[in-house]
Parts: sequence; C-alpha cells; structure tokens
Amino acid sequence: MKLITSGILCGVFCVSGALHAADQNTNKDSDKAKNTKQAHEIIDKKCTSCHSKNKIDIALSASKNMVKIQQEMEKRGAKLTSNESEVLGIFWKQSKPITK
Ligand code: HEC
Repeated sequence: MKLITSGILCGVFCVSGALHAADQNTNKDSDKAKNTKQAHEIIDKKCTSCHSKNKIDIALSASKNMVKIQQEMEKRGAKLTSNESEVLGIFWKQSKPITK
C-alpha cells in the first residue's frame, strides 16, 4: 500500500514539477524583457542628464566593463538606488555584444 501511495505521489509531483519548470522558463523570458524595459527607463531617467544614451551604446558595443563604468558614474554623481543598480547590472550582462 505504501508503495502505491508513493507511486501516486510521485506521479502528481513529477507532473507538477515539470509544469513548474516550464513556468519558470516562460517567467525567465518575461523577466528578461521586463528587466530590459526597466533598465531603459533607469537609463533615460538617471544616465542622460550629463551625456546622451549614445555614449552608453558605444561603450556596450565596445564590450567595456559596464559594471565598472556604472561605479564611476555613481562617483561622478549618478544617483542609483540599490534596486536600480541591480537592474542595470543584469542589463549590462544581457546586452553584452556577442563577439565570439
Ligand atoms: C553627473 C553626470 C553623469 C551622470 C549622471 C552619468 N554620467 Fe556617464 N559620464 C559622465 C562623464 C563626465 C563622462 C566622461 C566624459 C565624457 O566622455 O564625456 C561619462 C562617460 C560615460 C561613458 C563612457 C565611458 C567610457 O569609458 O567609454 C559611459 C558608458 C557612461 N558615462 C555611462 C553612464 C551610465 C550608464 C549612467 C547612468 C547610471 C551615467 N553614465 C550617468 C557623466 C555622467
């Protein structure tokens, strides 16, 4: 009887496990899109008062160390909350041009 019960339990959990994994995949995609949108908003709001977005694009396509540049910008006076800083950190990784 125990065996049968655990068989049924596994059946339920394995299926829900697989569904959950699929869910997480779609979430990941929309998380990425959401993060990109947020990052654009942060850049528009916090990074374009001293120079244009073009400067950021150029640095991105030159594969510059954006995390370090971001820190330099914060020293120069860009004010980022820790959340904004995190969103940008993820964005820089996504936006790395694929050079290899
Ligand atoms: C307080 C003014 C100021 C703010 C705000 C600011 N920057 Fe800058 N940024 C500068 C200055 C000054 C330079 C260097 C001089 C130049 O190249 O015109 C620079 C240069 C850059 C460069 C080129 C650096 C390189 O080595 O190629 C990038 C990329 C950049 N900023 C990104 C950002 C990002 C991202 C933000 C928002 C988090 C930001 N900046 C906000 C002043 C600012």
